[in-house]
Amino acid sequence: MIVPTRILFEHAYGKYALGAYNVNNLEQAMGLFRGNMESQAPFIIQISKGARSYTDKRMLEAIIRTAEQIWPDALFAVHLDHGDEQTCYDCIESGFYTSVMIDGSHLPFEENIAVTKRVVEAAHAKGISVEAELGMLGGVEEHISVDEKDARLTDPAEAEEFVKRTGCDSLAVAIGTSHGAYKFSGTQRIHMERVAEIQKRLPGFPLVMHGSSSIPQDEVERINAAGGCLKGTKGVDPAQYLPAAKLGVCKINIDTDGRLVWCRVHREFFRDHCDKFDLREPGKIFMQEYAKFIASRNELLGSAGQLESAREYALKALGKK
Ligand code: G3H
Ligand code: 13P
Ligand code: ZN
Repeated sequence: MIVPTRILFEHAYGKYALGAYNVNNLEQAMGLFRGNMESQAPFIIQISKGARSYTDKRMLEAIIRTAEQIWPDALFAVHLDHGDEQTCYDCIESGFYTSVMIDGSHLPFEENIAVTKRVVEAAHAKGISVEAELGMLGGVEEHISVDEKDARLTDPAEAEEFVKRTGCDSLAVAIGTSHGAYKFSGTQRIHMERVAEIQKRLPGFPLVMHGSSSIPQDEVERINAAGGCLKGTKGVDPAQYLPAAKLGVCKINIDTDGRLVWCRVHREFFRDHCDKFDLREPGKIFMQEYAKFIASRNELLGSAGQLESAREYALKALGKK
């Protein structure tokens, strides 16, 4: 069942974080639903602009709607990841998404506020929630000046003002993480103290952590042993997921780790079976391995085992119980 993102956040706040997993194709969707059902977790499916244009945006929608029929007990929200203004409007109009992200983090503060406000107005008119972003995602070295560091990490006072003035429903905060497989060089780290300061300013308000893949080293080693050449990769310590959740982080975005699972499965398969070319053989292995991966992340996020309680909460909130 697709439920409003807001309701999932209300259930999770301060207790656990929802895994927000990107999907691009059928195999990812299958592994995602299986993994969440196996671990009995509510979750968020997120679709990026790139995913929408990989084939045709209607294709992903059809896959997800079909998965909803195959797994009627699944409980999830559908979210646009890193949207620009036009893509937000397109998703709001579609009637499929329960939340959109307007990413104005590259804009000056006032311009970010202006675009976020416009999207909030359009989204709220249709009961859809809006995630905004403030601060610059990316590692912060210890040796850079305090001013420069502050300019990159989300400023707690600015976050408070931004949320009040835009009316957004959740906020992606820059706390030292970055997208992809190469996070944290040198003394870079995750700034949990910054999350705590932001929560103090915005009690009860859902925060979002992007760039949260953990880049498992055993996965990278297997990829490299099968012909890959990934060097210097590093990710978020997944033991940080729950402490972040306790500080109001309700949504933890994980995409790159899934790509690594895909890469490892396919590299190993073709290394070990140089005579094979049926896409379904590695595809089946990938779906199983991705499901396993999702279930393992949900354990770390604390969302595993929350499905029935979240369903009860959602049904009551929607007036269906
Ligand atoms: O933060 C970005 C997500 O990992 C999605 O990546 O834009 O390549 O689909 P993408
Ligand atoms: P990763 O690259 O760490 O998986 O982050 C994904 C993300 O933030 C999607 O918005
Ligand atoms: Zn992101």
